[in-house]
Amino acid sequence: MTFTIAIDGPAAAGKGTISKAVANKYGFAHLDTGLLYRAVGARMLDGVEPIEAARTLSQDALEASNLRTHEVAQAASKVAAIPEVREALVDFQRAFARRQGGAVLDGRDIGTVICPEAEAKLYVTASAEVRAERRFQELQGKGSDLSFDEVLAEVKERDARDSERATAPMKPAEDAVLIDTSNLSIDDAVAAAIRAIDSKH
Ligand code: C5P
Repeated sequence: MTFTIAIDGPAAAGKGTISKAVANKYGFAHLDTGLLYRAVGARMLDGVEPIEAARTLSQDALEASNLRTHEVAQAASKVAAIPEVREALVDFQRAFARRQGGAVLDGRDIGTVICPEAEAKLYVTASAEVRAERRFQELQGKGSDLSFDEVLAEVKERDARDSERATAPMKPAEDAVLIDTSNLSIDDAVAAAIRAIDSKH
């Protein structure tokens, strides 16, 4: 059995949490495709040319521990605008999507470019202020001294770069179910996602 669930949306909207919960509920494998771009971004920060980094990406690079920093997030969003970088990552994502047993992929262009035939598509969003507040709390917990305004500016900068790029811009697929998590608890957001998927299952 193959069944692909595509979950797209901007940073800190709740995609990751929803994707993990949904994968767990259906017993599907989960791929956080942002990690691919983060791994390429991290290698660029180490001086590797990004297209070369994307073409030679290894499993080890995806499991590196330093991919969740905001420097790497910004680098990821820069390399993600390079068409050859995106192209080099397509086959891996499509193969993952069609694996036996079902797959959940989360990212920016899964429902539009990587898996336009996905059986279920969600677009998870929230206001920039709510997303920045979540990121700010998370960063404070890690001892960061960035202010809320700095975090908000970074969220907006990354949104703009991701949605305005020419290749595979972040946007909802026409047939995606929209879930705005601005005023939802995690449990309610997961329940909304499961209702949307069950209606296609
Ligand atoms: O989701 P995450 O914050 O880890 O993504 C990091 C960056 O990778 C995004 O800002 C975006 O530029 C890029 N990305 C992408 N397409 C995807 C997943 C992530 O362009 N499918």
